[in-house]
Amino acid sequence: MPIRLGSLAPDFTAHSTKGDIKFHEYLGDNWGILFSHPADFTPVCTTELGLVAALHDEFEARKVKVIGLSANGLSEHDQWIKDINEINNVKLDFPIIADGDRNVSTLYDMLDNQDPTNVDNDGIPYTVRSVFVIDPTKTVRLIMTYPASTGRNFDEILRVVDSLQLGDQHRITTPGNWKRGDDVIVHPDLSTAEAQRVFKDVRVIKPYLRLTSSPF
Ligand code: BEZ
Repeated sequence: MPIRLGSLAPDFTAHSTKGDIKFHEYLGDNWGILFSHPADFTPVCTTELGLVAALHDEFEARKVKVIGLSANGLSEHDQWIKDINEINNVKLDFPIIADGDRNVSTLYDMLDNQDPTNVDNDGIPYTVRSVFVIDPTKTVRLIMTYPASTGRNFDEILRVVDSLQLGDQHRITTPGNWKRGDDVIVHPDLSTAEAQRVFKDVRVIKPYLRLTSSPF
């Protein structure tokens, strides 16, 4: 079964740099971000993991538990984390799954299908750069897939988490390029009369486009 927005995030058990992890149990009632890296000791991955480590407080503020994955073993992960910390001046403290057997990569359909260079010495594909944002009910809310050669924008991932969390709390949607604090859109399900009861200010641009101040 393909994983789609709205799917139950498949549960799994895996070895990680923080010990063995049961995925659902690890997430508890937090939000989760599962993100894959093709392989250890690769340059783009080294910068990405430094960025995520540096954003620790931002993820914590949103009750998001992050968990990385790379298709190598634990001893390589441990060595690599020392490099990541040194190069990026961080202290990486989230788990990275050791997915040398590609169990989790296969379960989440993360293996590279297009880059013939993104393979191990035996020719077995590494992963692409996948991101799954999972809400506290373990529902998949965002899926991103980037090629191995392109590092991701983690500010964008935080921005989507903000939009999802705000939309779950208030009957709003967020416009293109929206960021925390900007005006939001009254959900199309809400009549303008209802919106005026719920929100302090409602600006009607068109009957189908009503703006209100950010509830943040
Ligand atoms: C990198 O992290 O730099 C990378 C990994 C696999 C393929 C291409 C780039």
